Amino acid sequence: MRLVTTDDYDDLSQRSAALLIDAVRDRPDGVLVLPTGATPLGMFKALSAAGAAGTADFSRARFVTLDEYAGIEAKDRRRLFHWLRRELLDPIGIAEDRIVAFDPTAEPLGETARVEAAIAAWGGIDLAVVGLGPNGHLAFNEPGSAFGSRARRIVLTPESLRSNAAYWGSEADVPREGFTLGLGTLRDARQLVLIASGARKRDILSRTLHGPIGEDVPATLLRVHPHATVIADRAALAP
Ligand code: PGA
Repeated sequence: MRLVTTDDYDDLSQRSAALLIDAVRDRPDGVLVLPTGATPLGMFKALSAAGAAGTADFSRARFVTLDEYAGIEAKDRRRLFHWLRRELLDPIGIAEDRIVAFDPTAEPLGETARVEAAIAAWGGIDLAVVGLGPNGHLAFNEPGSAFGSRARRIVLTPESLRSNAAYWGSEADVPREGFTLGLGTLRDARQLVLIASGARKRDILSRTLHGPIGEDVPATLLRVHPHATVIADRAALAP
């Protein structure tokens, strides 16, 4: 696992965008998995700017969403796919046929099988970017998720309901269940990148980097992945 220390959030956003741009340069039709949340927003801005300036070409890249709430309407304002579309996929001009996203209304077994099959049909994931949950979750793989787990429907932990409340107003506004790619799905990605910023992530990042490897902290998956990078700013890495 490679650790990239950045000065601050802006530096983190630029460095993570550069890594993604390099991946697309190496493989223009690469399959990319991207997260939502607060952390990737600066990276999305940098990617959108690179697309607009013509310094990156996403015209053949393919995208898979990392996770989604379940049991909400397809048009629900909280749908994570809308968030990713608005912040990145629309600005860089990605058409529907190059996106695989969980349908929040779908029957779980069929939907998770569909997403895994779509990834396999595209030749697997080239690069997956993930954020770091305050409880160590990766996507909606909550503590206790097996490292071999595949895409599935899950119940959010109280801690994730609390952290997701920041996006939608209050805990009562956060859907109780979700779809997620599994830790095994992410482990199969040819490259796995974790981004973490700010003092709020300090404790969990320390456990991720230095604590026991295992399912109690799903983010420790980064340490067993053959080609993993953690990009974190100084505030998140401070002792
Ligand atoms: P954040 O979320 O980027 O909003 O901190 C990360 C996560 O919970 O996975």
